Amino acid sequence: MAFPAGFGWGAATAAYQIEGGWDADGKGPCVWDTFTHQGGDRVFKNQTGDVACNSYTLWEEDLKCIKQLGLTHYRFSLSWSRLLPDGTTGFINQKGVDYYNKIIDDLLKNKIIPMVTLFHFDMPQALEDKGGWLSEATIDVFDQYARFCFSTFGDRVKHWITMNEPNVFAILAYDLGFFPPAVPHVGTGGYQAAHNLIKAHARAWHSYNSLFRKEQKGLVSLSFFTVWLEPADPNSASDKQASERALAFELGVFAKPIFIDGDYPEVVKSQIASMSKRQGYPSSRLPEFTEEEKKMIKGTADFFAVQYYTTRLIKHKENKEGELGLLQDAEIDYSTDPSWKGENWVFVVPWGLRKLLKHVKDTYNNPVIYITENGFPQCDPPSIDDTQRWECFRQTFQELSKAIQIDKVNLQIYCAWSLLDNFEWNDGYRVRFGLYHVDFEDPARPRVPYKSAKEYAKVIRNNGLEEKP
Ligand code: GAL
Repeated sequence: MAFPAGFGWGAATAAYQIEGGWDADGKGPCVWDTFTHQGGDRVFKNQTGDVACNSYTLWEEDLKCIKQLGLTHYRFSLSWSRLLPDGTTGFINQKGVDYYNKIIDDLLKNKIIPMVTLFHFDMPQALEDKGGWLSEATIDVFDQYARFCFSTFGDRVKHWITMNEPNVFAILAYDLGFFPPAVPHVGTGGYQAAHNLIKAHARAWHSYNSLFRKEQKGLVSLSFFTVWLEPADPNSASDKQASERALAFELGVFAKPIFIDGDYPEVVKSQIASMSKRQGYPSSRLPEFTEEEKKMIKGTADFFAVQYYTTRLIKHKENKEGELGLLQDAEIDYSTDPSWKGENWVFVVPWGLRKLLKHVKDTYNNPVIYITENGFPQCDPPSIDDTQRWECFRQTFQELSKAIQIDKVNLQIYCAWSLLDNFEWNDGYRVRFGLYHVDFEDPARPRVPYKSAKEYAKVIRNNGLEEKP
């Protein structure tokens, strides 16, 4: 179970989930500040990220954990509104720049490679007030922000992820309204936001390509959330087709334009167009790219980043009533297998990750792949001796090893989610994904390694799993 020499072993975090310091030193508010402060039981016990792991002041504690694990890579995100309080480069918050400079420099001093996400769900409130990702104007503002980050940190950061999981973010924030701005636009908002997110990513990639790449020699991509979607009945042609359709709606919507040809998958276009027609819309609810935009979008990623947690079984489900919604547009229904064990929404299906990697290899021209998140939650109260959770990681590493050795997938980096227990969005602090336990009742926010952290450190040291005796 050895991994290729030089394989990257990382862990990931995101600004709003760990930093706290929500209004410290000139940081502007982000949408999650507004959303959590409004209460309304949209987050478990109305918890907030005001303090979270307090990584804004406790970075050195995080660094100790990172070093203890022996990580080769650390993936974190920049808080856009900590750097640019109103989202624009009109005013730069130097204290924010200093904070991230210190993180980057400390990592490099310790020979740990920083992987930086520009946008992980925490839109500056000032930009949301102008329409957020439903507005085309945000594309340009995002590009300015990306350029600012490349020019400020790009001398040292060589792995950029423009946006985290825009494929689910678009739906959760703008279609269903579970995430801020929490205004549902079912059947339209998700597609409109996705359209702008894709163009914004492509613009930022081009900015890097034409203005920074020659000198900085880094890589720029984006990361996708991808549940593996398995046909419920492998012998049923209609379930097989449904699972392909589901993959096109989940992953292909973003990955095909960016990695293949600048345009959405045909099945996505035709399903949404015909549903829209039945529903009396004058045109498809899925916006169209112009020929010029297609050219601009095609080929704008230097690696393929996936975030895998779980698998679902897919069945065809006809949308007889012409209802609005993503599943309804895709005409699918999903379920889980009663034999799968899991916590919260994460059913543990390690083989799903191997299938997903193979799918990415076959569909997107054998790209370099990074797993930028993968992990298993414990619900409160957690156990420091998390033997069962470690078993999930162990089985996952076995599947990764098969993917590399048997399927010849070009997987180069694996990042566990997450370094620390943290603010798990609508689930607050109830759902814990950390390799390190954080006591959120204690003002000092002590970090204590779970058994999984100690075992992961061994895997990193051995560059693979030791065979079980
Ligand atoms: C991802 C997300 C992370 C984290 C994780 C666990 O979708 O990028 O921020 O919350 O899920 O649910």
